[in-house]
Amino acid sequence: MEIEPAAGGTGEQAQAQAKALWPKIAAELDLPIAGARFRPLQVNSRRQDWRSVLLITLPQGDRFVLRADFGQSPSAHFSANLDRHRAAASGLQALPGVSAPAILWQHLERPIYLMAFAPGDTAFRALEATTFGFGDRATVLRRISAAVAALHQVSGVGERQFWPKPFLVRVSERAQALRDRQIALPRRNKFLGLCALLHRLARAARGQSFDAAVEHGDLHLRNLLFSDTEGAEAAEISFIDFSNHKGIFPQRDLATLWLANCPDHLAQEGQTPGYGLVARADWAAFEQGYGADLVSDPVFRFFFALRLYKSWLLLAQRSHPPDAKTTQLAERYAQVFEALLAEE
Ligand SMILES: Nc1ncnc2c1ncn2[C@@H]1O[C@H](COP(=O)(O)OP(=O)(O)O)[C@@H](O)[C@H]1O
Ligand SMILES: [Mg+2]
Repeated sequence: MEIEPAAGGTGEQAQAQAKALWPKIAAELDLPIAGARFRPLQVNSRRQDWRSVLLITLPQGDRFVLRADFGQSPSAHFSANLDRHRAAASGLQALPGVSAPAILWQHLERPIYLMAFAPGDTAFRALEATTFGFGDRATVLRRISAAVAALHQVSGVGERQFWPKPFLVRVSERAQALRDRQIALPRRNKFLGLCALLHRLARAARGQSFDAAVEHGDLHLRNLLFSDTEGAEAAEISFIDFSNHKGIFPQRDLATLWLANCPDHLAQEGQTPGYGLVARADWAAFEQGYGADLVSDPVFRFFFALRLYKSWLLLAQRSHPPDAKTTQLAERYAQVFEALLAEE
């Protein structure tokens, strides 16, 4: 079947294109074609013109998720990332309560695949719900980090030493570009301070041994599904949207989890802030579930600061001069930076 990109189209167009694939996929999987119901799942509004994630329900009640990218040219890494998803799914099979949905069908040339449906809400919503009195925040965090520990365990590639040089080269280049006014960032001087801090944190982490594991690659809380039909302690956690096949720093996944949606997971009013302005109680629960002392691990500290740096750099892609939201984000990033500085 030919697939034309939904150039400049609407979300509906991408969804219609995805639906049109169903007869072919169903035929290849020996599933009934007729009577399937389609419901779009939420994708980032910036991507909805060319990405569709569809929940497909068959007449007998079986459910699948079809994820399709139509816009971009197929990424060279797509197949490798999907293989990485498959490897994680098979590795996690032996472990109770943690999984990745099985990949059931894959387009030969394009980033389009069908998965098993993973029930539940995103871990983002599960954590948010605890602020409204549904469930216990520490329990949810412990379950999340225990699941991530399981993922890293089955993705292990042995002990390695940490050599930060390639990261530092890039940090220095960006800092220079900022000084040369090739890029513009809000709270520029603080950002340069963060670049300097990264060099010092790298020195402390240099040569450190760590248990290397193939990363998930985009481990924020909307890429974890959390089904807690029997209470958070017994929740089934599924990982989706893998986007890495060769990075091997589990610490980078952990930093992403806390900072990809920054400031969403920072200490709220009434909570005592700890490392990097994440609540102290959150660190305690998270470290307990993961089974490691993270905030005193020099490699983790490096990657935590590096994730902050990455988010900050992304502000360069927002409007100029910065709008209120961008200014507000930079303000929060600067506060996290100050907190990291105080921990040195
Ligand atoms: N296998 C699945 N089972 C249930 N829900 C899913 C599944 N895959 C994706 N989703 C839902 O669709 C959303 C978007 O899917 P995702 O693969 O993360 O795409 P995106 O790149 O847009 O983040 C997820 O946050 C999740 O809520
Ligand atoms: Mg996602």
